[in-house]
Amino acid sequence: MVIPIQFPSEMRLSQGDEAPTILIIDSGVGGLSVYDEIAKLLPTARYLYVFDNAGFPYGTKEESFIIERVVQITQQMADRYPINLAVIACNTASTITLPRLRDTFSFPVIGVVPAIKPAAQLTRNGVVGLLATQGTIRREYTYELIKQFATDCQIEMLGASSLVELAERKLQRQDVSLNEVRAAVMDWLKLPKIPDTIILGCTHFPLLKEELQQVFPSETIFVDSGIAVARRAVFLLKDFTIPTLSQSSNVAFSTLEDEKSALLLPVLRQYRFEKLENLTNIERIA
Ligand code: DGL
Repeated sequence: MVIPIQFPSEMRLSQGDEAPTILIIDSGVGGLSVYDEIAKLLPTARYLYVFDNAGFPYGTKEESFIIERVVQITQQMADRYPINLAVIACNTASTITLPRLRDTFSFPVIGVVPAIKPAAQLTRNGVVGLLATQGTIRREYTYELIKQFATDCQIEMLGASSLVELAERKLQRQDVSLNEVRAAVMDWLKLPKIPDTIILGCTHFPLLKEELQQVFPSETIFVDSGIAVARRAVFLLKDFTIPTLSQSSNVAFSTLEDEKSALLLPVLRQYRFEKLENLTNIERIA
């Protein structure tokens, strides 16, 4: 589900021949699952992907910490690039940062929040599982969504920070065993009625979908918000001429240069990010 966007009345996207520049932000590799869906619909846009590895993981951090970092990262990127759209590709950050970002920046900002509404419509046994970070399952925003869209079903919530780490490891091309994935969701596997529909309420989790599918019963439906975000991006950029060929290269940014970020280079290339740069100033608030 995508948080609806509000345009200030004086704001309009400008038309032009250049590919729109889309900024995508997450604490780590999770936002690549959202980028992947957007890039399927808008393959020739220019993408800037920031993974805030100095602030990672967001799921266990204070709200004020996350808000400050996301605003500072967006500011630094907006100072360097003509951003046409920002996507906060992180459920944990989206549930708290969007009002500040929309007040601060003139370009549209899309957030990602757990797909509670579609999941409530898809469940057959009446039990929906929300698999997210500890931060997301605590948020008022999440409770409001449940109250609005899922009063007819039982919602089980699980804060699974270890899955966030496993997704990072998987994209660093390190081994991730099914036993580790199983251990992260064991509380649900022991339930008398296991959720038959599971919301991947953290953008890291679609990266582990194959493993999750093997751990849960085969009829389990997994729902995430990636496609909805991508459709929203297309809508918001509809006044742009989208070129048939890519004109400029995509760039990924880390907020901390370390061994783990270097391990991501091959996978970033697979996602068509040719360069990995560093946003050094952000380190101050880590
Ligand atoms: N990928 C993020 C989310 O969607 C957060 C992961 C983390 O840093 O804890 O919630």
